[in-house]
Amino acid sequence: MDQRVSLCKRRGFVFQSSELYGGLQGAYDWGPLGTELKNNLKAAWWQSNVFERDDMEGMDSTILTHPRVLEYSGHVTTFVDPLVDCRKCKSRFRADHLASASCPNCGGQDLTEPRPFNLMFRTQMGPVDHEGALAYLRPETAQHIFMNFKNVLDSTARRPPFGIAQIGKAFRNEITPRNFVFRVREFEIMELEFFVDPGTDENWHEYWVDTRLQWWERQGIARDRLELLDVPESDRAHYSKATVDLMYPFPHGLEELEGIANRTDFDLGSHTRDQEALNIQAQVRENTHSGAKLAILKPNSSDWYVPFVIEPSVGVERATLAVLNEAYDIEQLDNGKERVVLRLRPHLAPFKAAVMPLKRNHDGLVSKAREIKNLLQRLGLGRVFLEASGNIGKSYRRHDEVGTPLCMTVDFQSLEDDSVTVRDRDSMKQIRKQVSELTEFMTEFYRRPSHA
Ligand code: GAP
Repeated sequence: MDQRVSLCKRRGFVFQSSELYGGLQGAYDWGPLGTELKNNLKAAWWQSNVFERDDMEGMDSTILTHPRVLEYSGHVTTFVDPLVDCRKCKSRFRADHLASASCPNCGGQDLTEPRPFNLMFRTQMGPVDHEGALAYLRPETAQHIFMNFKNVLDSTARRPPFGIAQIGKAFRNEITPRNFVFRVREFEIMELEFFVDPGTDENWHEYWVDTRLQWWERQGIARDRLELLDVPESDRAHYSKATVDLMYPFPHGLEELEGIANRTDFDLGSHTRDQEALNIQAQVRENTHSGAKLAILKPNSSDWYVPFVIEPSVGVERATLAVLNEAYDIEQLDNGKERVVLRLRPHLAPFKAAVMPLKRNHDGLVSKAREIKNLLQRLGLGRVFLEASGNIGKSYRRHDEVGTPLCMTVDFQSLEDDSVTVRDRDSMKQIRKQVSELTEFMTEFYRRPSHA
């Protein structure tokens, strides 16, 4: 983990939030390269789950959440972790993370009994602090998808099976945030709620596990790097009938990367007021008063039914950490030296290409390099970087370390015959290309199935 954390800080992927004031625990800022990587990963998720499908809509909801939403979703009562205090040093821990009955901080044996601690962040809406002003920062994006189920139905004429996808911030007041960006208090979630007819839910659950495994493969995480965990009932969220976790060997151990849950009709049922009118035994619950009927009218019938929901959900921070970890390689070179290379899939790389003038202070070389950079930038493939440090060897090493798939060097020959040297990150092979060929070369490179 230390090597990855050091690379992330040194090269501008991730920084501790508010570091100048000692750091905000469980909160990280994404630097120039981390932002590009994270955006590329989110774009890859949106591309496969929204653009490439004919049964999905996207949405983007508020972070501020009405307290009733989280009451009826069950979060106010059940979104809790067991908290223990050390009476000696006053540290606090998650009881289920303790390896023994002693305090991991001071070794003391005097721990309190575990008590439930709600992970949701509360805030106040408006200038007056009273109970009616209470709002929560959403702990998942899912509830807002359920809140908009009817709006999306009415505005798109969808019927199950179909899904609604969302990427956005979520907040959890974790008792012990840890392992770098693995467990944090503010993070982004990429999740989708896929609405299906009851009775077809188990098949759809299997379908989504399989689909998500294929997606991970395209992000550079091979099938044999992920283990499937059928989460036992005692560990499942209150809404889940079955959950399969995709477990990845993070540097600190095998842990959940993504969860794929069968949420049944729990949430739509809970938010629906007129439960009995639905005439479906499983959905009849007390205290459900949103005033809306989040249900579907059966074709040619006056009967309603509440769809079941399959939900693949993954944190962007965890996903980025897994992708970074998988790509990190220390290669032994023939000359006995080592090179650190981030073998990111090209579509995820923060820089799609670096254009490097051989000399930093040579106007002709620098302006030629800038011209090429601008040309390639206009292809819309992602960020192209003008690397004008003037030290080509060092620049190659830096770009290997941050995963830039292609480096293009502008030298004195370039000024004579309009050609550049193109170096491939993985093979380190160099070829000479005419500038007029670069547009097609780079477009073709990024279209290769293994790169897209
Ligand atoms: N809507 C379903 C849901 O929120 P979850 O298993 O609690 O399910 C989904 O969270 C995903 O969000 C997890 O698989 C993980 O990738 C990520 N995640 C959860 N808590 C996190 C945290 N404190 N820090 C970073 N990522 C987190």
